[in-house]
Amino acid sequence: MRSSYPILAASIACTGGTPGGPGVEVREEATGIQALRPLDPDDAVVTTPEGLVSLRADTMLDPTVAPVVAAARHFQAVVATEGELLAGDGGLLPSPLGPELPGPVTELVSAGTALWLRSDGSWWVHTQNHLFHPMVDGSPLGGALTAGHLDGVPVAWATVPGGLLALADSADGPVVVVRTDVTAEALAGSTEGLWAVADGRLELFDGASWHRVARDVTAVAAHPDAPGAWIATADGPAHVRWIEGRAETVPAPEVSGDWRGCDVGGRLWTLDASGVARRAAAVPVALISGLADGAVLGAPTTVRVDVSHPRVVESVELLVDGRAVALGIDSTGLRAALLDPSALEAGEHEAVVRATWTSDGEPLAFEGTPVRFTAAASGPITWLDNVEPLHRARCAICHDNGTETILADRDAWVANVDRILTEVEAARMPLGGDPLDEATIGVIRTWRDTDFP
Ligand code: HEC
Repeated sequence: MRSSYPILAASIACTGGTPGGPGVEVREEATGIQALRPLDPDDAVVTTPEGLVSLRADTMLDPTVAPVVAAARHFQAVVATEGELLAGDGGLLPSPLGPELPGPVTELVSAGTALWLRSDGSWWVHTQNHLFHPMVDGSPLGGALTAGHLDGVPVAWATVPGGLLALADSADGPVVVVRTDVTAEALAGSTEGLWAVADGRLELFDGASWHRVARDVTAVAAHPDAPGAWIATADGPAHVRWIEGRAETVPAPEVSGDWRGCDVGGRLWTLDASGVARRAAAVPVALISGLADGAVLGAPTTVRVDVSHPRVVESVELLVDGRAVALGIDSTGLRAALLDPSALEAGEHEAVVRATWTSDGEPLAFEGTPVRFTAAASGPITWLDNVEPLHRARCAICHDNGTETILADRDAWVANVDRILTEVEAARMPLGGDPLDEATIGVIRTWRDTDFP
């Protein structure tokens, strides 16, 4: 056995700030790799023509096995091969779990201290020193399964017919802690919650509700202990984070190759003919707070601009429809502006932060994700002018009577406003109709936030 392996010695290239945005940091490593699976922490199991390698200690675990799948558990690597289950953190030994399973392991997921193993088509879990074969509604779990967090507790997310489950550890084995009727084609857990792709739409479940994040998404990757997710979209790859109730998306044009997962640092591992690359997401440079995407402004509103690298950044502008708005400094030390909707034309507008800085003598500029908002035609959002017409047009046909939830008048809307927002944000209501657009949902939100005028 060799004591070290020159896996990290290949070319390393870093691109920090690229023109047009901070982009992503790119690190190229190693060539000749055939398979790869990122592990915790900051580690991976890879197969090379010579055998199996752990990147953590640069040591070869066992040059003779070719792993089918790998996972990490308590700083150990767990590797399934065609015939055996192996575990270890320096060398690999046959795991005692192997003979207890009905067949070879084809997938491995570690969620907290639990190790999930797919064998003979269904999921088994080793936790609390026992091996369980969880049954839900009388059937074993056979769909997709991914690790994540729910309110800080490690869970496994599993797809079941008609929905999704979150399973947490208990002394008696895994228990279902959340059940939703959202069905998803792809799942990825991060510290923010669960990212799910359904019909090309990326949604985030934060433990309480679903948030629509992006459209035309074809792939998603994340790590349960790191923030953010990497997504592939029709416009190319991007990194997305959920900050203060809103998606911050940074395009990542440098990303190419096959996606092999994320490590505990949130870095995306990719593999192509030229080798392995780890890509770290750049922190979003500028954030707008106090103005949610889709908000409807009925009254002057204070909007704040927060810049993540205040020492490097040279200038910060808040642009509304391309024109700079005067920024002051508020009591918390943040740049702030008062947006007065009566000074804008009624209708849709766009606010964006633009920041500039210099890197290696080169001037660079970065624009944050634009926030779209609507300036209300006249005065504040009211029941009579805005909400009741929406109710008449989109909800009354079912909810004036006949349904369990009666929403026939202002009082009923006030009493149920949070449920209403949850339903329309998740596009479950209006039942059978087109979902409400962001601006219309913003009308309901603003009406609630301004105390139901
Ligand atoms: C085609 C009929 C239909 C339309 C249109 C419709 N709903 Fe519903 N809605 C239902 C049915 C059926 C239920 C389930 C029974 C119930 O809770 O009343 C429901 C349930 C709800 C609930 C309760 C959900 C829960 O379980 O907490 C809310 C809130 C709701 N709808 C809001 C709306 C709003 C707001 C609109 C208009 C934007 C709307 N609905 C349009 C049929 C409809």
